[in-house]
Amino acid sequence: MISKAAVTSLSVLVVASIAGWSTFAYSQGSGSSRVDPPRATRPQTPDEFYSSFWSFLAKKDAAYNTWKVINRVKADDGIENPHSNISKTYVNKIAADDAANLPISSILVREDYDDNRKRQSVSVLYRIKDYDKEHGNWYWIKYQENGSVARDSDDKVIAGKVASCVACHSKANGNDFVFSNDAIKSESDSKRGDKPDETVKPKE
Ligand code: HEC
Repeated sequence: MISKAAVTSLSVLVVASIAGWSTFAYSQGSGSSRVDPPRATRPQTPDEFYSSFWSFLAKKDAAYNTWKVINRVKADDGIENPHSNISKTYVNKIAADDAANLPISSILVREDYDDNRKRQSVSVLYRIKDYDKEHGNWYWIKYQENGSVARDSDDKVIAGKVASCVACHSKANGNDFVFSNDAIKSESDSKRGDKPDETVKPKE
């Protein structure tokens, strides 16, 4: 059971943090003379956010599948991978430019395919300032193939601070909840000549 208060505070948080994102998404003028309708003064509901974020990710000419790919180097760390074996992870420019640190506004999009290479689902991590400080400030969302948000076995949407995603991703190196950049992180650590330490960040 989720309390009403929890739902409200989640949507306020999501909406507050999305404000920055939607400005970014909508401020890129199309060059056409069409004027966008004035944006509603009320905040987006979570449902509206799920679909507008999907529209952003699937945006014509700039969809996530035109972004850079970073696939995890196959690791023998024994961590269970619940995603499919055939996948691709795309990252936006902010993430690609600093994959070791993944700054705020980084977006990582993982596509999973079935054995016939047909897309099954799209799982996304979106780093939002002050969204969830204890867990790397990631917003988690899983979409189905058709772009609607996925639901768990209790029919709860898989979006927001999703405990199951967070719990397993906390095993990634460097306390950033991301596996795909683990090799990049250890490379930059060894370049610095520091002994990699997973709990303490070396002082620059
Ligand atoms: C039981 C562990 C586990 C759970 C639960 C899990 N993941 Fe993952 N996830 C992984 C592993 C391991 C990888 C790296 C996979 C590989 O080697 O291809 C990964 C990769 C990813 C990636 C690519 C970025 C990265 O960290 O490498 C995204 C995006 C992602 N998961 C999203 C999610 C979302 C959203 C959820 C919750 C709905 C979730 N994951 C649940 C283990 C998990």
